[in-house]
Amino acid sequence: MRRPIIIANWKMNGSREKNTSFLEHFLTAVNAETCDIVICPPLPYLSQIQQSIEITAINLGSQNVCQYPEGAYTGETSATMLADLGCQYCLIGHSERRLIFNESDKSIADKFLLLKKNNITPVLCVGETLQQRENNETEQVVLSQIDSVIHSVGINNFIDSVIAYEPVWSIGTGLTATPEQAQSVHLAIRNHLKTHNSQTASGTRIVYGGSVKPENAADLFSQPDIDGGLIGGASLKAESFAEICNVL
Ligand code: G3P
Repeated sequence: MRRPIIIANWKMNGSREKNTSFLEHFLTAVNAETCDIVICPPLPYLSQIQQSIEITAINLGSQNVCQYPEGAYTGETSATMLADLGCQYCLIGHSERRLIFNESDKSIADKFLLLKKNNITPVLCVGETLQQRENNETEQVVLSQIDSVIHSVGINNFIDSVIAYEPVWSIGTGLTATPEQAQSVHLAIRNHLKTHNSQTASGTRIVYGGSVKPENAADLFSQPDIDGGLIGGASLKAESFAEICNVL
């Protein structure tokens, strides 16, 4: 049985003061026993968050990592450094990285492998645009994004990783995929993983992201192939993020 996981992607938000206030309220409101919980702050706040959650069951995650192991890459942060800071998870391939910062499938696969080498669980983000959905290309796009990583790193490296299905048209829009829409894509992902390795398919956690809120979380997370969520806006408010986590 896959243990559910809820991941907060704070994106480029927060401050030392806001982070302290968030954690004070969140840690009193959340029941962290029923699922894995990960907080992904902006890079400058990793140490602050790590120190605040050190004695809790909450996990630390990063929103990004460099595709190179170390060296002359000004402004970048390596997987080794993230491990040194206590990161257990790291997002890769988020649609904002792909669309705004032009990240390629190759660089995402390189990041995946570096994270695995540093014992950090990759959270591979995939998802289609509204145009691609309207063109009935959703499964083709999503499975292609997954296959480009599998072909580069091998299916055995996928076990224990997390896939986040985030339809681009639902991110930050308030237009959430219906539970049926999300389940349909999650099932297609799981069935596709089975064509590579059935054990990996059953062990890989597939979470949904895209306008998850306290009022829609239960219906989404009750779907058989939705193993949790990747939460953006709603994770910036301690009470709403705790409410989403407590659904499980
Ligand atoms: O990575 C999660 C994020 O893309 C979803 O954002 O604000 O729609 O929950 P939001």
